[in-house]
Amino acid sequence: MSRSPVFVVSPGGQLTGQIRVPGDKSISHRSIMFGSLADGTTRVHGFLDGDDCLATLNAFRAMGVEIEGPENGEVTIHGVGIDGLMAPAHTLDMGNSGTSMRLMTGLLSGQSFDTTLVGDRSLMSRPMRRVTDPVQSMGATLSTTDSGSAPIEISGGAQLHAIQYELPVASAQVKSCVLLAGLYAEGKTCVTEPAPTRDHTERMLRGFGYAVESPSKGVVCVEGGGRLTATEIDVPADISSAAFFMVGASIAEGSDITLQHVGMNPTRTGVIDILKLMGADITLSNEREVGGEPVADIRVRSAQLKGIQIPEALVPLAIDEFPAIFVAAACAKGETVLTGAEELRVKESNRIAVMADGLKILGVSAEPTEDGIVIQGGDGFGSGEVESHDDHRIAMSFAMASLRASGEVRINNCANVDTSFPNFVKLAGKSGLSIQIN
Ligand code: S3P
Repeated sequence: MSRSPVFVVSPGGQLTGQIRVPGDKSISHRSIMFGSLADGTTRVHGFLDGDDCLATLNAFRAMGVEIEGPENGEVTIHGVGIDGLMAPAHTLDMGNSGTSMRLMTGLLSGQSFDTTLVGDRSLMSRPMRRVTDPVQSMGATLSTTDSGSAPIEISGGAQLHAIQYELPVASAQVKSCVLLAGLYAEGKTCVTEPAPTRDHTERMLRGFGYAVESPSKGVVCVEGGGRLTATEIDVPADISSAAFFMVGASIAEGSDITLQHVGMNPTRTGVIDILKLMGADITLSNEREVGGEPVADIRVRSAQLKGIQIPEALVPLAIDEFPAIFVAAACAKGETVLTGAEELRVKESNRIAVMADGLKILGVSAEPTEDGIVIQGGDGFGSGEVESHDDHRIAMSFAMASLRASGEVRINNCANVDTSFPNFVKLAGKSGLSIQIN
């Protein structure tokens, strides 16, 4: 079986300098969706030119939206209006992207034409009833496989009605899916979340001039039948991509790196809180607001980390950063315990199992539990060959582990790094982590 591309990472080193990691994935997806549905021309700067966001972009092109770019992060979207999408000539392939598939399910449920959503092997095995169930209760006609996975077949022409929906899991994708369907529903759709999750959908809807109410804490509502007005969007650097460098710089002695223009939305900064609780040396500067999203430069210097019990309230706020946080925990003094994070088992891979397996191969004691993991921190990593399971964040986390490894680390099947961080190897190299691609 092919393992290529394999990242062969040299041990040791430190991270230094100033870098800007690519644009935020969540915001880039939403910029295409809302830009397409808006009246007028939307210009996006700092767009993430990764495979996931390109899947979203190509889906809207297939539905008749004229989109220029991306070129150096610039995208121009000639919006067709909330009711202007056209039937695509083929199934819409969402690749590896759960965000594309789940948000599009809501949006497409309100169209007049039929669509079918498919994806790669990983995406086709992820749970989709969490989005199809609420949208069905709004009056949509759609189906999944018997096991609740894609393909999702959506029949057009349904008249949706508003619902009051309590999210069974803290998921921004499900919240966003219901709100997107709510744009096409009769009445006011409200979603209640059990814990705060990323709020880019709400922020960006307001940026496009669409009213979003929050009648009480944890509740957001949209009234169907409104319109969006084109705008200009400046996408900050993705804190989820910055997180690899935050962890790498923390664990590699002598590191001092500054990550520029990083999105600091409070629903995304759990990784900073967790690393700080572990004793990381992180300082923020140049704090400002850009296009409705807070941004800052983040300076990280190496520090002796200590193991902690990760507060459960921080789990949804750091949901994508746990593979990297586990690498930090492996270099911390003492035990780190994560609970309340069963969602990690249904990400691009089963991130609890896959990280535990890889950490063990590299000589770290890591015991998976049903809803988390227990990691005994130590003196770093040995050397060895680990599997990324086609998961971009697993691949990049183990690459950072090499900074504290005693020998070469080989990471198999790293193609999907391109889904969120196409220039990872180059930026890592520039900062002091040497990765060879075989
Ligand atoms: C995302 C929400 C999160 C996150 C994903 C992006 C989004 O998923 O893991 O990478 O853009 O809304 P869940 O909603 O499943 O937690």
